[in-house]
Amino acid sequence: MTIVRVDSLDNKEFVSATEELREYFSSLSASKGRKLTYNVLTYGCQLNESDSEKLEGMLSSFGLVRTEGKDELTMADVILMNTCSVRENADKHLFGNLGVFKSGAYEDRDRIVIICGCMMKVPENVEKIRKSYPYVDLVFDPQQIHRFPILLRDSIRSKKQLINISSIDYIAEDDYFSIARLRKFRALVPIMYGCNNFCTYCIVPYARGRERSRDFESIVTELESLKEQGYNEVMLLGQNVNSYGKNNPEGKSFPDVLRAASDIGFNRIRFMSSHPKDLSDDVIELMATRSNIEKHLHLAMQSGSDRILKLMNRPYTIKQFLDICDSFRERVPGGSLTTDIIVGFPGETEEDFELTLEAVRKARFDAAFTFQYSKRPGTKAAEFEDQVPKEIVSERFSRLLDLQNDLAFRSNEDKVGSSYEILIEGISKAGSGTYTGRTMSNHLVNFTIPEEIMPSGCDTDLEGRLGIVRIDRARPYSIDGVLERFTDV
Ligand code: SAM
Ligand code: SF4
Ligand code: F3S
Repeated sequence: MTIVRVDSLDNKEFVSATEELREYFSSLSASKGRKLTYNVLTYGCQLNESDSEKLEGMLSSFGLVRTEGKDELTMADVILMNTCSVRENADKHLFGNLGVFKSGAYEDRDRIVIICGCMMKVPENVEKIRKSYPYVDLVFDPQQIHRFPILLRDSIRSKKQLINISSIDYIAEDDYFSIARLRKFRALVPIMYGCNNFCTYCIVPYARGRERSRDFESIVTELESLKEQGYNEVMLLGQNVNSYGKNNPEGKSFPDVLRAASDIGFNRIRFMSSHPKDLSDDVIELMATRSNIEKHLHLAMQSGSDRILKLMNRPYTIKQFLDICDSFRERVPGGSLTTDIIVGFPGETEEDFELTLEAVRKARFDAAFTFQYSKRPGTKAAEFEDQVPKEIVSERFSRLLDLQNDLAFRSNEDKVGSSYEILIEGISKAGSGTYTGRTMSNHLVNFTIPEEIMPSGCDTDLEGRLGIVRIDRARPYSIDGVLERFTDV
């Protein structure tokens, strides 16, 4: 696989395609007598969200306006679906939605439907679109985001479905794009792309290509500019964020990025996801000693059985994994530890599963993303013979969920009566008059704001603000309380 670095100085075609699209949409808008709109649907992880922020930035630069409101989803003039392929139900989402868009797309010949993202690296999906969804105008893969204006221009010029899946792993620095940051309270900053680990169940290395790290100086420049723009929180992203720099000649590693971000002076620096094999002592040390580095470590365990970990191609034993957890707990008091666990990997016996339950009890995770194993065509594990029957997988899954909910609830109960600083993320899903935010250790807090300290203005003005919440109630997935005061005034 070839890795190609894209230089932002060499973007003449990108600029001329953007100009041509701006003219095209402007004359279409004049003929329709209204503003043209776009809608981006994003599935999957934060790396996809970050890609969508770049795509939205480009769509805005063509003169299109983002649609708001659910009813308008299918009515936008340009509809872009940024897909995920990590589990089978993600695939189903796309094809379900494509059916919904179908009638609108046929009625309005000017409507443009675009599909990109990880699912487009699976040839069967692309073939299905080619055969059954002729109204899809453009299909491309996640490695070619920086070529989006060129591909869209070509598809409009040709008036035919354009499918362009590259075998090259491009890497373009963020300054290539004008990013539409979608959150006021958190800026997403990918620092590395791709994955070289080939866990046997996982589609990501096929979808996202080989591991490649961004240029250190370029990351620092972006962070400095985010600080100037007033962001309180940045989130450093990578499929294995702590493997940053492994193939870079300049010799910078993940702790160097963390240290630089901390020195720039954000209120909070988060990072996702860390791989146990590359978690250096330096990272834990920085979490322990730097007040603006989050006290939260997301470390995927996947299974508690060494035998299954080996079959998964995860290069650690459960003892090594639990030693990292212990070291984190000891050196980052009050910190939180979260994980990913797969239930029902091919060959998983009741004994293996019991070892997972035992490891969960020992690690005392604050939260766990638990998944039923999903067979991904093209991965090694999809060829394994002893796939676990669905009923057994779902029975084990609910036992794991019960245990984890119980442990999380009990750990949350210990927080009742204490006060924590939170960064406000917005209105809570829990109901009207309730807001949501996160503590420094990434605990989700739902809270109310007493009238006497409620600032005037709209709710979105609260996003990104800091305050102290006193906790009065525990739940398995969150803690609830009342805002005592704002701390950023
Ligand atoms: N790179 C991260 C790591 O290894 O820690 C994980 C990133 S992956 C996008 C997120 C999670 O999806 C994985 O940790 C795994 O638990 C889950 N996952 C990946 N492939 C899966 C599959 N085929 N079936 C079920 N869960 C899967
Ligand atoms: Fe997937 Fe494993 Fe890479 Fe994580 S480390 S993205 S689970 S292959
Ligand atoms: Fe999904 Fe791709 Fe992320 S498969 S989880 S969107 S890297």
